[in-house]
Amino acid sequence: MKLLFLNGPNLNLLGKREPQVYGRTTLAEIETKVRERAGEFGAEVDFRQTNVEGQLVTWIQEARGSFDIIVLNAAAYTHTSVALRDAIAAVGIPTIEIHLSNTHSREAFRHHSFIASVCVGQIAGFGSASYVLAVDAAVTVVETGKSR
Ligand code: DQA
Repeated sequence: MKLLFLNGPNLNLLGKREPQVYGRTTLAEIETKVRERAGEFGAEVDFRQTNVEGQLVTWIQEARGSFDIIVLNAAAYTHTSVALRDAIAAVGIPTIEIHLSNTHSREAFRHHSFIASVCVGQIAGFGSASYVLAVDAAVTVVETGKSR
Protein backbone atom coordinates (compact mmCIF):
# COMPACT_ATOMS: atom_id res chain seq x y z
CA MET A 1 0.00 0.00 0.00
CA LYS A 2 1.43 3.37 -1.02
CA LEU A 3 0.43 6.59 0.74
CA LEU A 4 1.28 10.03 -0.65
CA PHE A 5 1.36 12.83 1.93
CA LEU A 6 1.33 16.32 0.38
CA ASN A 7 1.85 19.51 2.37
CA GLY A 8 1.18 23.01 1.10
CA PRO A 9 2.48 26.50 1.79
CA ASN A 10 4.13 27.54 5.05
CA LEU A 11 4.00 24.05 6.52
CA ASN A 12 7.79 23.95 6.18
CA LEU A 13 7.75 26.49 9.04
CA LEU A 14 5.92 24.22 11.49
CA GLY A 15 7.50 24.33 14.94
CA LYS A 16 8.29 28.04 14.61
CA ARG A 17 5.11 29.26 12.90
CA GLU A 18 2.31 30.47 15.23
CA PRO A 19 2.99 27.67 17.75
CA GLN A 20 -0.13 28.61 19.72
CA VAL A 21 -2.16 27.54 16.66
CA TYR A 22 -0.02 24.84 15.05
CA GLY A 23 2.06 23.48 17.94
CA ARG A 24 5.82 23.08 18.28
CA THR A 25 6.25 19.87 16.30
CA THR A 26 8.23 20.32 13.09
CA LEU A 27 7.17 18.85 9.76
CA ALA A 28 10.19 16.52 9.88
CA GLU A 29 9.01 15.22 13.28
CA ILE A 30 5.50 14.74 11.90
CA GLU A 31 6.95 12.82 8.95
CA THR A 32 8.76 10.50 11.40
CA LYS A 33 5.49 9.83 13.29
CA VAL A 34 3.67 9.14 10.01
CA ARG A 35 6.36 6.70 8.86
CA GLU A 36 6.24 4.88 12.22
CA ARG A 37 2.46 4.48 12.09
CA ALA A 38 2.44 3.49 8.42
CA GLY A 39 5.16 0.94 9.17
CA GLU A 40 2.79 -0.79 11.59
CA PHE A 41 0.50 -1.44 8.62
CA GLY A 42 3.34 -2.30 6.25
CA ALA A 43 2.43 0.77 4.18
CA GLU A 44 4.93 2.85 2.20
CA VAL A 45 4.97 6.63 2.60
CA ASP A 46 6.11 9.43 0.32
CA PHE A 47 6.02 12.72 2.25
CA ARG A 48 6.45 16.06 0.43
CA GLN A 49 6.02 19.80 1.00
CA THR A 50 5.91 22.74 -1.39
CA ASN A 51 4.95 26.39 -1.22
CA VAL A 52 3.90 26.32 -4.88
CA GLU A 53 0.27 25.63 -5.86
CA GLY A 54 1.14 24.29 -9.32
CA GLN A 55 3.62 21.83 -7.81
CA LEU A 56 0.81 20.34 -5.73
CA VAL A 57 -1.32 20.05 -8.89
CA THR A 58 1.55 18.30 -10.71
CA TRP A 59 2.19 15.88 -7.83
CA ILE A 60 -1.53 15.00 -7.66
CA GLN A 61 -1.59 14.37 -11.42
CA GLU A 62 1.57 12.24 -11.28
CA ALA A 63 0.20 10.14 -8.41
CA ARG A 64 -2.08 8.22 -10.77
CA GLY A 65 -0.84 4.65 -11.04
CA SER A 66 1.81 5.12 -8.34
CA PHE A 67 -0.17 5.69 -5.13
CA ASP A 68 -3.28 4.15 -3.56
CA ILE A 69 -4.30 7.26 -1.68
CA ILE A 70 -3.33 10.90 -1.11
CA VAL A 71 -3.38 12.66 2.26
CA LEU A 72 -3.41 16.39 1.60
CA ASN A 73 -2.84 19.33 3.91
CA ALA A 74 -3.32 22.01 1.27
CA ALA A 75 -2.87 24.71 3.95
CA ALA A 76 -4.09 28.12 2.69
CA TYR A 77 -4.78 26.72 -0.81
CA THR A 78 -7.62 24.74 0.81
CA HIS A 79 -9.58 27.97 0.93
CA THR A 80 -8.62 29.37 -2.48
CA SER A 81 -7.75 26.70 -5.03
CA VAL A 82 -10.16 25.51 -7.70
CA ALA A 83 -7.09 24.05 -9.46
CA LEU A 84 -6.41 21.66 -6.59
CA ARG A 85 -10.06 20.65 -6.46
CA ASP A 86 -10.03 19.93 -10.18
CA ALA A 87 -6.77 17.94 -9.95
CA ILE A 88 -8.18 15.70 -7.20
CA ALA A 89 -11.38 15.16 -9.19
CA ALA A 90 -9.41 14.48 -12.39
CA VAL A 91 -7.05 11.79 -11.06
CA GLY A 92 -9.72 9.91 -9.13
CA ILE A 93 -7.31 8.74 -6.40
CA PRO A 94 -9.04 8.77 -3.01
CA THR A 95 -7.86 11.85 -1.13
CA ILE A 96 -8.15 12.73 2.55
CA GLU A 97 -8.13 16.40 3.57
CA ILE A 98 -6.26 17.13 6.77
CA HIS A 99 -5.46 20.14 8.95
CA LEU A 100 -3.60 20.59 12.20
CA SER A 101 -6.03 23.24 13.41
CA ASN A 102 -9.83 23.10 13.51
CA THR A 103 -10.42 25.38 10.54
CA HIS A 104 -14.13 25.59 11.39
CA SER A 105 -13.47 27.24 14.75
CA ARG A 106 -11.17 29.87 13.23
CA GLU A 107 -11.67 32.89 10.94
CA ALA A 108 -14.68 32.73 8.58
CA PHE A 109 -12.43 32.61 5.49
CA ARG A 110 -11.12 29.23 6.70
CA HIS A 111 -14.59 27.69 6.97
CA HIS A 112 -14.89 26.98 3.27
CA SER A 113 -12.79 24.27 1.66
CA PHE A 114 -12.67 24.04 -2.12
CA ILE A 115 -11.36 20.48 -1.87
CA ALA A 116 -13.72 18.96 0.74
CA SER A 117 -16.38 17.97 -1.77
CA VAL A 118 -13.94 15.86 -3.81
CA CYS A 119 -12.24 14.26 -0.79
CA VAL A 120 -13.23 11.03 0.98
CA GLY A 121 -13.25 12.82 4.32
CA GLN A 122 -11.61 15.40 6.51
CA ILE A 123 -9.48 15.27 9.69
CA ALA A 124 -8.92 18.62 11.37
CA GLY A 125 -8.13 19.99 14.79
CA PHE A 126 -5.85 17.38 16.36
CA GLY A 127 -2.50 19.07 15.81
CA SER A 128 0.23 16.74 14.61
CA ALA A 129 -2.00 13.81 15.60
CA SER A 130 -4.20 14.70 12.59
CA TYR A 131 -1.42 13.23 10.44
CA VAL A 132 -1.20 9.98 12.44
CA LEU A 133 -4.99 9.63 12.43
CA ALA A 134 -4.84 10.14 8.67
CA VAL A 135 -2.62 7.07 8.31
CA ASP A 136 -5.32 4.97 10.00
CA ALA A 137 -8.01 6.60 7.86
CA ALA A 138 -5.99 6.06 4.68
CA VAL A 139 -5.45 2.37 5.40
CA THR A 140 -9.17 1.95 6.12
CA VAL A 141 -10.13 3.69 2.88
CA VAL A 142 -7.74 1.58 0.78
CA GLU A 143 -8.75 -1.68 2.47
CA THR A 144 -12.49 -1.06 2.20
CA GLY A 145 -12.44 0.62 -1.19
CA LYS A 146 -14.44 3.52 0.23
CA SER A 147 -14.84 6.44 -2.15
CA ARG A 148 -16.42 9.84 -1.72
C1 DQA B 1 -3.94 24.55 8.01
C2 DQA B 1 -5.16 25.47 8.15
C3 DQA B 1 -5.18 26.52 7.04
O1 DQA B 1 -6.31 27.36 7.22
C4 DQA B 1 -3.93 27.36 7.08
O2 DQA B 1 -3.92 28.26 5.98
C5 DQA B 1 -2.69 26.56 7.13
C6 DQA B 1 -2.64 25.35 7.94
C7 DQA B 1 -3.82 23.58 9.19
O3 DQA B 1 -3.13 22.56 9.04
O4 DQA B 1 -4.39 23.83 10.26
O5 DQA B 1 -1.66 26.95 6.58
O6 DQA B 1 -4.08 23.78 6.82
